[in-house]
Amino acid sequence: MTVCVSRCYIAARNGMNPKREGLTQTMILNSDGRGFGLVFLCLLLLPKLTTAQQLTLNLTPMPVSVQAGTGSLRVDSSFSVALAGHTEPRLERAVERFLQQLARQTALPLSLKPAKTPQATLIIRTDHASKEIEEVDEDESYVLEVSTAGAKLTAPTPLGAVHGLQTFLQLVDISPDGFAAAAVAIQDKPRFPWRGLMIDSARHFIPVEVIRRNLDGMEAVKMNVFHWHLSENQGFRAESKRLPKLHELGSDGLYYTQEEIRDLIAYARDRGIRVVPEFDLPGHSTAWFVGHPELASGPGPYQIERRWGVFDPAFDPTSERTYRFLDEFIGEMAKLFPDQFFHVGGDEVNGKQWDANQQIQEFMRAHGIKNNQALQAYFNKRLQAVVEKHGKSMIGWDEILDPSLPKDITIQSWRGPASLAAAAKQGYRGLLSNGYYLDLGWPAARHYAVDPMSGDAANLSPEEKQRILGGESCMWSEYVNAENVDSRIWPRNAAIAERLWSPEEVHDPASMYTRLDSISARLEWLGLTHRTYYRRMLQRIAGSAATPDEFTALRTLTDLVEPVKDYTRQQTALAEATSLTPMNRVVDAVPLESDTGRRFGELVDKFVSTSCLDAEIEARLRTHLLLWRDNDAKLQPLAQRSLLVQEVAGRSQDLSALASAGLSALHAVSKRQPAPDTWKVQQFAIMEQLKKPKAQLLLIPIPAVQKLVEAAASGGACVGAKQ
Ligand code: ACM
Repeated sequence: MTVCVSRCYIAARNGMNPKREGLTQTMILNSDGRGFGLVFLCLLLLPKLTTAQQLTLNLTPMPVSVQAGTGSLRVDSSFSVALAGHTEPRLERAVERFLQQLARQTALPLSLKPAKTPQATLIIRTDHASKEIEEVDEDESYVLEVSTAGAKLTAPTPLGAVHGLQTFLQLVDISPDGFAAAAVAIQDKPRFPWRGLMIDSARHFIPVEVIRRNLDGMEAVKMNVFHWHLSENQGFRAESKRLPKLHELGSDGLYYTQEEIRDLIAYARDRGIRVVPEFDLPGHSTAWFVGHPELASGPGPYQIERRWGVFDPAFDPTSERTYRFLDEFIGEMAKLFPDQFFHVGGDEVNGKQWDANQQIQEFMRAHGIKNNQALQAYFNKRLQAVVEKHGKSMIGWDEILDPSLPKDITIQSWRGPASLAAAAKQGYRGLLSNGYYLDLGWPAARHYAVDPMSGDAANLSPEEKQRILGGESCMWSEYVNAENVDSRIWPRNAAIAERLWSPEEVHDPASMYTRLDSISARLEWLGLTHRTYYRRMLQRIAGSAATPDEFTALRTLTDLVEPVKDYTRQQTALAEATSLTPMNRVVDAVPLESDTGRRFGELVDKFVSTSCLDAEIEARLRTHLLLWRDNDAKLQPLAQRSLLVQEVAGRSQDLSALASAGLSALHAVSKRQPAPDTWKVQQFAIMEQLKKPKAQLLLIPIPAVQKLVEAAASGGACVGAKQ
C-alpha cells in the first residue's frame, strides 16, 4: 500500500498520467503487516480541486497540494488515533492534544489517548525524531490522506505530524450525516523555514497563560517561531538569578520566572515552535538601568519608563564593565533559552547619551569611531563575540546591519524591505517584519499582500534568496494588554501565517478572507479570546443599566469603526497615554479590522459592478444605511449615562451623517440621471470632515459611501465609480 501511494504521488508530481503509467484508481488493502489495518484510496488519482472546492475546505494556511477524494470520513465517538513508525512522548502528547481539540470542536465524547492497537481511524507514521533543539530548515513536511475508510498522516518527523494534525482538524466539519472530514490527499510543506510571531510582553506585561494560548494559535496556523520581546524601557520581564536586580527593580514585580520560561519553551516545543528571546540593546534599555545605573551612558538614577516612544538611555559601549555584565547575563540566558538564535534588538538608538558623555566622545576619537552608527557597530561586534561565546547566533533589527559584522548574524527588517535584500546581498540571513506589524492596525489583506521575496528581494540571485529565511509578524504592546491582545493578533495573523507557509501563488484576498472567518471561529476552540473579549469590553463601556436596544446600538456603531492607524495613536490623543493609562475605551475594545465595514464595501463594489442595476443589492444597502442613520437616536441616551459611551457620541452622529449621504446617493442613483455637481461637492465635503478621526476612531464605510456618491454623480451608470 505504501508503495502504491508514493508512486501515485510521484506520478502526480511529475505530471504523469497515472492511469497511463499503469496505476489504477483502486482500493488497496493493507498487506504490509506493520499495523496499517485500513483500506485507503489512492486519492491522488482523483482530479485536482478547483478553487471553489478548495474554498469549501477552508484550510489556512492553504497546503501546497490538495486533491479531492470522494465522500468523507465519518468522525464520531469511535474516532481513534494510532501511532506507527517512530514514536516519542511529544507525539503522544500531540495526539492527546489533537483529540482534546477534536472533542472540543465536535463535543463528541472521544477517548483522549492514542489507541493501543494498530487499528484506528487515523494512523500517524513518522520516520525519525526531529532535532532535540529545533533548528531552522528542519523537514516540516507531511502527507495527509483521508478517505471514507480512514485517514493516514505520514511525515518524516513529528514536526510534520504536528502540522498535519492541524490540517486534519480544519477538515472536520458538520455535514448532513454528522461530523466528517472531507476525503482528500494533501501534500504539504512550508515555503519559508522561519514563520514567526513576536509578542512584546515588556511594554505591557502579558501573562504566561495568554502567551500559551497564542502559541496554540500559532500551532493552528503552522507558525514555528515565537519571538519573545522581554526587555524594554518599560519593563525587564525575565528572571535573572545571577543579576536579580534586573527583574526585581525593573519590572514592577511583573516578570516571568525561570520555571515559567522553561515550561513555556517546552510547551512551544511540543507545538513545533522555537522560542527566540529578545533582550533589546543598547537602546530601549531604561528598565535595565533601574537596578544597574552603572551600565548606562548617562548619569542615573533611572526609573521604569511609563511613557511611550524612543528614549535617551543607552548602554555605555565604551566600558569593559558593560561587556563583563553582558557576558554574565547572556551566559545565564543562553542556558535558559535553548534556541540557536539570540535576539539583541539593536533598534532606535538615538545616541543622545553618547553625544553628551565626554568619556565616550574621547573613546570614539581615540579609536577612530566616526559617528554613533559606527559606535553601535563597535558595540555589536563586541556583543556578537559574547553571544557566540555562549554558543548562539546573533539576530537583531536592521540597525545592526554593518559589513564589519560576521556573516553569522541575522537581520530582522522592520524599517523597510530594502534592508532585507541588502542584507542578503551582503551575505547575511534575514527575516521580513516590515509590512507585518500587527499593531499598526492594517487590514489582513494589506499584510497578506506583503511578500518577503517581493521588492528588492525579487532581484536577488537564487543563492541570495536562500538567505531570506521568512518573516515575523510583530505585536508591539503600547496599546495592548492581556485583555485585548488576542484580538490584536487574531485573526489577521493567520493571513501572515499563510503568506509564510503557502506557495507564493496563493494570494487571492477574497479567498483569504473567506477562510479567515473560518479559522477565526476555529481559533476560539483553543481558548483564544479574540472574539469574546469584545462583548465583555463593550459591556463594561455600556454599563449594567444599558438596555438591550442601547447595547445593540453601541455595537452597531463600534462594528463600523477602527482605531486610528500606523503610528497616529499618540498624535491623536487628547492626553498622552502611558503604561498606566486604563485601556477601557472604545478604541481599545473595537477590533482593528471591521468585518462589517469590509463587507459593506464589498457589497458596494458589487452594486457598482452591476452599473447599480441590481435591485436586491440596492435594497440591502438601503437597509444598512437606514439602520446606521437611525442608530444615533438609540445610542444618545446611553451616552448620557456612560462616560465611555459619551466619548463616541460624536462618532455616532457622524455615522448618522454618513448614512444620510449614502441614502441620498442611493436615491440619486435610482433616478438614473447624473446628480448635480453641487450636490457631489457638498457630499464630498461632508465626507472629508467625517474622515478626521474622533475619539481616535475612523469611520470605516466612508470610501464605500464615496463610491455611491460617485455613482450617483455619473447618473447611475457608475462610470469611473470603481476606483
Ligand atoms: C522596532 O519597531 N523598533 C523594531
